[in-house]
Amino acid sequence: MTDLPTRRLGRTGIEVVPVGLGAMDTPHSDEGAATLHTAIDAGMNLVDTAREYAGSEFLLGQVIRERGRAGFHIATKTFSHTADGAQRDVDRSLSVLGVELIDLYQLHDVSSVEKWHHVMGEDGARAGLEIARARGLVRHIGVSTHDLEVLRLLVESEAFDTIMIDYSAFHTETAALIAEAHARDIGVIVMRPLGGSGRTSVMRGRVARGEAGLVTPANLLRYVLSHPGVSVAIPGARYPSRVVENLDTLAQFTPMTDVEMRALEAAVQTFED
Ligand SMILES: NC(=O)c1ccc[n+]([C@@H]2O[C@H](COP(=O)([O-])OP(=O)(O)OC[C@H]3O[C@@H](n4cnc5c(N)ncnc54)[C@H](OP(=O)(O)O)[C@@H]3O)[C@@H](O)[C@H]2O)c1
Repeated sequence: MTDLPTRRLGRTGIEVVPVGLGAMDTPHSDEGAATLHTAIDAGMNLVDTAREYAGSEFLLGQVIRERGRAGFHIATKTFSHTADGAQRDVDRSLSVLGVELIDLYQLHDVSSVEKWHHVMGEDGARAGLEIARARGLVRHIGVSTHDLEVLRLLVESEAFDTIMIDYSAFHTETAALIAEAHARDIGVIVMRPLGGSGRTSVMRGRVARGEAGLVTPANLLRYVLSHPGVSVAIPGARYPSRVVENLDTLAQFTPMTDVEMRALEAAVQTFED
């Protein structure tokens, strides 16, 4: 696939292809490796993994050893809330991935105000990531959260280069803070852009039976990309065919109109897991 568009990942300055790969459930198997190779060969230039996604960093490390790391950016995460714990996780990630520098290191799932204050404290995980950055081990730092209040604090603090948040036709509450983050030049990474794997398996059955109506993976991805503040959506994929389909949606992308977005929001109201 050629001539894919790019968007700027906020102040990181990374020109990111706006559909990347969320590797959380990409299996540690030959098929999972094929999914990663296909994603990168086809043009995705951001792969998101985490210390906690069983085997995922290991799989990505295996793929990097096979092909080198040119042409894509690595994002990974730590669940640790402490400075020491975050630094230990950075060291482990470097070793498992087999690289000397990680493009984006994120604090994973900071989803309560209490955790936010903990990670932002003097001995908190943010300090650990800043030390890792000063040591030249990570280039940019970010946070993922499922909590709207933490998201507001995160955006207003401007303390991180990127945010990773839920946003989809199923989950619209983050739209205003995405715009605010974009205005502050913070990169916006959208997790669960298709509404999460429970929904997509039901959706695929409906598509196969011709019963899906508007609620298709392609429409959901188009919805997310239609928010001008979104830098990149990272749909999860087990199989190579999924990444090809998602890049095809990007290649054909035109923004949805407001009317189309409201129609999809209404259609998902009747969607049940
Ligand atoms: N930081 C956090 O706390 C956090 C939490 C959740 C997720 N995330 C990140 O966000 C990524 C995506 O989240 P997610 O996987 O939960 O939700 P998602 O991207 O909304 O949905 C993933 C599901 O969609 C299916 N799918 C993908 N493309 C498809 C297509 N073209 N047609 C049909 N089905 C398709 C996948 O199927 P197959 O698996 O069968 O290929 C998978 O089951 C994760 O991989 C992870 O990187 C982060």
